Amino acid sequence: MIRMLLILAFCAALLGAGMNTGDAKVFSWKDAAGVVHYTDNQANIPQAYRKKAEADELPELVVVDSGAKPAAPLTGAGVFANRCGKCHVAAYEDKGEKIALLEKAVDRRTRMVLSDIELAAVLKRAADGRYSDMPGMEISRDDLLTIARFLIGKAKREK
Ligand code: HEC
Repeated sequence: MIRMLLILAFCAALLGAGMNTGDAKVFSWKDAAGVVHYTDNQANIPQAYRKKAEADELPELVVVDSGAKPAAPLTGAGVFANRCGKCHVAAYEDKGEKIALLEKAVDRRTRMVLSDIELAAVLKRAADGRYSDMPGMEISRDDLLTIARFLIGKAKREK
């Protein structure tokens, strides 16, 4: 890890110096304490290590703009399917043993769609295992809010 950081720091230093990295040499040596050092200037290598220091060609740094999008975070539907779908369905329809959660997104009395904060609180109570048949589970607040937004979005679409 430290080695990686050193290499990164070194590359950054090279870039900062505006050097042409294509033919840059980097020297490395291990000191008595086992710490690996890097330099691009042979004169910086302590005499005792100069003979044993290794020289490496630095590969040319190529900046690639692949245009690739970062991996999408799990959507609400994804988190739901992943963490809750084994025992719950998101919709109203009867899926046998599974318990519908969509109705939890709508206040039974007012028929108003709960805010995601309110719904997250309901989900959190359930995830904490405060319902007799639901085992307590580890779930982050972010994941709960994601599920809440997913359920609320669904409730709005189905209204
Ligand atoms: C292992 C099966 C299982 C999993 C996984 C599970 N649940 Fe449950 N859940 C249940 C059962 C069974 C009940 C009904 C418990 C009861 O009535 O005592 C329940 C009840 C609930 C309730 C309360 C329903 C009500 O009546 O108000 C909510 C909200 C809920 N679950 C949310 C979730 C969420 C969110 C997840 C995923 C993070 C999840 N559950 C994952 C089995 C599960």
